[in-house]
Amino acid sequence: MSIADLDAAEIHRILEHADRHWALASEPIKKLQTLRGRTVINLFNEASTRTRTSFELAAKRLSAEAINIGGAGSSTSKGETLVDTAENLQAMHPDCIVVRHRFGGAAAMLAKAMSCAVINAGDGQHEHPTQALLDAATIRRAKGKLEGLEVAIVGDIAHSRVARSNILCLAKLGARIRLCAPWTLIPRGIELIGGDETRERTRVVTRLEDALDGADVVMMLRVQHERFEGEASRFPNTRELSRTYGLSERSLGFAKPDAIVMHPGPINRGVEMSPQVADGPRAVILQQVSWGVAVRMAVLERAILGDLSEAAA
Ligand code: NCD
Repeated sequence: MSIADLDAAEIHRILEHADRHWALASEPIKKLQTLRGRTVINLFNEASTRTRTSFELAAKRLSAEAINIGGAGSSTSKGETLVDTAENLQAMHPDCIVVRHRFGGAAAMLAKAMSCAVINAGDGQHEHPTQALLDAATIRRAKGKLEGLEVAIVGDIAHSRVARSNILCLAKLGARIRLCAPWTLIPRGIELIGGDETRERTRVVTRLEDALDGADVVMMLRVQHERFEGEASRFPNTRELSRTYGLSERSLGFAKPDAIVMHPGPINRGVEMSPQVADGPRAVILQQVSWGVAVRMAVLERAILGDLSEAAA
């Protein structure tokens, strides 16, 4: 449901397990048998390219059956509630439901009503735990560790479930976090979401230079217009935001010379970052996508088998 459900040791176990699956991606035959005969349903009621495809691929690479439903093609569009949909799906005996929903708390509500495993693939602006895990895996591969790193998270923090899950995850793994946006896009008290653990490790700044100065990792976030619902006045305008907070080759110069650039996708080119940065040598954005498959394989195994040691056997 949330990164808060995991302690640092469990996160490391998932990352180590994902390492093995990462190697599989360069094999000609990419399949394992650990979830053979199991069924995974992807229930996505919000737009998704990377998350849904990678959960589907992850399930298939572990030999599970994977089914995708959601949005316009499902009975949600006929007025069925989320819990009714899920109870009907459960009557078909899946082993796991992966859910993305536009309301925060939707995945937790489902998990209460279901007897099968439920994985949160993004609930409103609340959390996106597997994104934070794949981000941690990407950083760990690029930098060799997470402990002691300075990570700048820049952009629409207010509407970002990616930011919330990353703050929790990075703090647990011993990194330090700078959150950067105009005040109107930084929720008051955001640094307290993980109690003392995040308060001690998170700093809020409003100047891009302060966020980037000496950063090892720069994580840029999309402006999530779809979540604004009547609060457009809190938002400057895209051009102004891009000029003040967009990442260019010049502003990237404030970060460490070997800093990496991340983005959960989808990128709005020319808004969060210039195309030169997005396609440049410091960007690890497509590596994040590759790690998405490996990490979600490990998460599916943990959710369905209950223990990663069984998957390793
Ligand atoms: C993010 C999401 O949906 O929360 N994307 C993703 O899952 N890779 C971020 C976004 O939509 O901007």
